[in-house]
Amino acid sequence: MSTTLPLGWEDDLALTQQAVWQLLCAAVDAPDDPLRTPVLGTVHLQGAEPAPMLRTVVLRAADAASGRLSFHTDARSAKAAELARNPQAALLFYSAVLKLQIRVEGAVSLHVGDATAREQFDHIAAASPHTLLPYLGAAPGTPLDGLPPVLTRRSWRAADLAPAWPCFAWGVLVPRRIETLVLDPRGHRRARIDRSGTQWTAHWIAA
Ligand SMILES: Cc1cc2nc3c(=O)[nH]c(=O)nc-3n(C[C@H](O)[C@H](O)[C@H](O)COP(=O)(O)O)c2cc1C
Repeated sequence: MSTTLPLGWEDDLALTQQAVWQLLCAAVDAPDDPLRTPVLGTVHLQGAEPAPMLRTVVLRAADAASGRLSFHTDARSAKAAELARNPQAALLFYSAVLKLQIRVEGAVSLHVGDATAREQFDHIAAASPHTLLPYLGAAPGTPLDGLPPVLTRRSWRAADLAPAWPCFAWGVLVPRRIETLVLDPRGHRRARIDRSGTQWTAHWIAA
């Protein structure tokens, strides 16, 4: 955790809501923070049957003002196809230090090839180019005969990353519900925070 929360935040609904955004915003720039690597849940189809699918992603941006959480992924990935078919998704965060679970539900917009994607791609190509390397190779899930040379290069220039651009997808989840659970020896605290337009309403619920 790379941010300081107000004393007693876990006993106060408004402070709990504030803490969620404070923690997620701080996690974006804190490589070792467990809240930086949530589990993203989507709905995939097993034949005709909807089924859950989970995977870890890196939280790349959190915006408390607009209430958005963002990640990037490969536009050719299974998750991108799942989100294109059904944008309903969830993010699950857990910090063992804070004993805090955060569940976020909402719809994901995937930006591919648009101005939003371009802005993020250029920023990431400059700041952390290695995170774009997967998008230079074969589509995720393609069987390989061996490790391709692209995976053994050690240095990169921005120009090398240009072919990654068509595969770059910027996912933006707009939460409609956030649920927190703080494991506390005095008794667990569970809060549900619902959004309607720009309004957020928080309630305690039984743990
Ligand atoms: C710590 C960690 C962080 C990851 N971050 C991302 C990410 O930000 N975006 C992404 O697409 N995949 C990320 N992955 C890989 C995914 O978990 C997953 O294996 C891959 O994207 C294929 O998922 P899919 O087949 O469901 O599309 C990460 C994996 C780990 C272990």
